[in-house]
This record gives sequence, C-alpha cells and structure tokens, in this order.
Amino acid sequence: MAKTVFLINGPNLNLLGKREPAIYGSETLDDVTARCTALAKPAGLTLRAMQSNHEGEIIDWIHEARDNAEAIIINPGAFTHTSVAIFDALQAFEGLVFEVHISNVHKREAFRHHSFVSARAEGVIAGFGIEGYELALRRVISLLG
Ligand code: DQA
Repeated sequence: MAKTVFLINGPNLNLLGKREPAIYGSETLDDVTARCTALAKPAGLTLRAMQSNHEGEIIDWIHEARDNAEAIIINPGAFTHTSVAIFDALQAFEGLVFEVHISNVHKREAFRHHSFVSARAEGVIAGFGIEGYELALRRVISLLG
C-alpha cells in the first residue's frame, strides 16, 4: 500500500496569497498542495493536505495520522509558539515529523523565535517561502525510500 504523508497547515494559512504578501508571498495554499502532490505522486506517496484555524482539529488529525500516515509535514502557524497540546500530540505519533515555516521566524519578532514543535521534529525549515514544503517533502521521500 502507498505510504501516506499528512500536510497540515495551521491558523491563517488559508489566507496564503492574500495575507501579508510581502512576508508570505503571493502563492496560495492550493498552489502548495499542487506542488507537493506533483512531487509525491511519482514517488509513490499519497499526500493528504489539510488546514484548520482550530487547535483541536489539528490535534485530531495528528491522532488520525497515528494509524494512517508515515510522516507529517506541519506548519502550525502561530500555534508553533504557543501549543504544548500540539507538541504532545506529535509526541504520540511515531512517524516522521517535519516543521515548515514560510518566513524566517528567527528574523522576526522575538515571540516567534521559540517553537514547541521543533523539539519533536526531525527537521525544521524556515524562510524558504512555500518551497520549504517541497524541501521537507523531498526529505520525507528520501527517508521513506
Ligand atoms: C508561520 C510563522 C508564524 O510565526 C506565523 O504565526 C504564521 C506563519 C510561517 O509560515 O512563516 O502564521 O508559521
């Protein structure tokens, strides 16, 4: 059976392309999904893309990944900096976790410098624009063989 990757985006990322384009660019979340699907398919991976503005829904998807995915690529948005609950949910997931940020959070406000998720992630990508999602997926593809 094809291995599955969950691509989870957190709050406000539904506005990608419209929201603060100087920081996040002009491409949309649909563009992200299309780029990642184009990469996943020939590698024989199934990509499931989801976005929510609600912490609990993101946690439910991480729980669902326990039995249904080999890897999670997650941009938790602002929950990155606040959510112990998302960290705990990821700790209960045994597959690969990659954390992606479109912007370079370390170049921005101090409150964006700490991530609760990084302590669980195999790798973190920040500041590569939406290409960061593809870079994370390339790494998942090479690790999952
Ligand atoms: C973000 C960075 C976060 O600090 C911010 O709250 C976001 C997006 C990024 O992709 O650069 O919503 O995760």
